[in-house]
Amino acid sequence: MSTINTHAAHPRDCLFQALVIGRMALRNRLAVAPMTRVSATDGGCTTERMARYYGAFAEGGFGLVITEGIYTDKAYSQGYLNQPGLADDIQRDTWTTVIDRVHKGGARMIAQLMHAGALSQGNPYRGGSVGPSAVRPIGQQMAIYRGEGDYPMPRAMVPDEITEAIRGFADAAVRARHAGFDGVEIHGANGYLLDQFLTEGTNLRSDHYGGDLERRLRLIVEVTQAVRAAVGPEFTVGLRISQGKVNDFTHKWSNGENEAVQIFGTLAKLPLDYVHTTEFEAWKSAFGNGASLASLARQHAGVHVIANGSLQDPTRAADMIGSSQADVVSLGRGALAHSDWPARVLRGVPIDEFDREILSPIADLANEDRRNMERVRALL
Ligand SMILES: Cc1cc2nc3c(=O)[nH]c(=O)nc-3n(C[C@H](O)[C@H](O)[C@H](O)COP(=O)(O)O)c2cc1C
Repeated sequence: MSTINTHAAHPRDCLFQALVIGRMALRNRLAVAPMTRVSATDGGCTTERMARYYGAFAEGGFGLVITEGIYTDKAYSQGYLNQPGLADDIQRDTWTTVIDRVHKGGARMIAQLMHAGALSQGNPYRGGSVGPSAVRPIGQQMAIYRGEGDYPMPRAMVPDEITEAIRGFADAAVRARHAGFDGVEIHGANGYLLDQFLTEGTNLRSDHYGGDLERRLRLIVEVTQAVRAAVGPEFTVGLRISQGKVNDFTHKWSNGENEAVQIFGTLAKLPLDYVHTTEFEAWKSAFGNGASLASLARQHAGVHVIANGSLQDPTRAADMIGSSQADVVSLGRGALAHSDWPARVLRGVPIDEFDREILSPIADLANEDRRNMERVRALL
């Protein structure tokens, strides 16, 4: 198995400096990226296994744990079967055990609020999917989340449904606060509903939610304002944004850096505490030459930035902070490889490559347990 050398001569101390985002005090700059693991009950409640899964990241030294995308309402937000929800008080109360476990481990916990829109491939509450326009998503449903074949053709949302979706985000944010989360992250990235409104090809609307960039950003603006109004000024609110999508990895904002400046300039006017950018390789130029997306966010959004994308090499991660491109780095696959990634880096222990088999054929925790058992048996 190939390893990454954690003894490289690069100062990593910056990864372990404390930081306050909003009202949330972090012990270091290391976050677990949101990762859907479809391991909740059929009714969207968390389980004891999920509490252990999330708790392990805190015990392993991460300062911040961001949850998988959580659905927000019982209308059209759910994307995947066995995705957890914050759509009612029963679901809310099951999060408390998970949060307690993470807090006991010394980390903060943020709920990622997600509306899947046209990318929904498993929603027991309503038939069919909705999006900004009746445009069938490109690509295929994700098999690791029990999907198969083409995405269904979504129905264009009517104004009342947009209002219902905004209300869903706000209500879920209030439930997150009551459950004990330290904040919420609005999922505006990766091709889900808010990103569908932002993206030209999926938003063909002629009302005030479609057309130029300002109009395509309107749903992100209104959701952020509604969430902030609902949770008050003391609760941390962030937004995740990306160019790439789960069904279109290489998508780029069409007007390059100008568009990025306009998008982050709009976010700067919103009541946000942080922006979380994600790119395939976070340190690379966002548009072929020039600054990284995280760096553009940091320059133009005026808030703390969490950078994500292939940062499991500690030297790379430290460089994002050391070169002032980001304030925090989040790890997805790196955290799955080692829930104690921060502790390992501190001790100079090698970092293994991520074993993608833990997500195959289904990306749930039962499959990860099975895979880990196989690896233990192979060693005996
Ligand atoms: C299994 C898995 C599930 C994911 N689920 C989500 C999700 O629910 N919400 C989200 O914003 N990103 C999700 N992502 C994307 C990750 O947050 C992250 O952007 C991606 O893994 C790239 O970061 P990495 O190079 O550190 O792995 C997921 C990634 C993986 C591997």
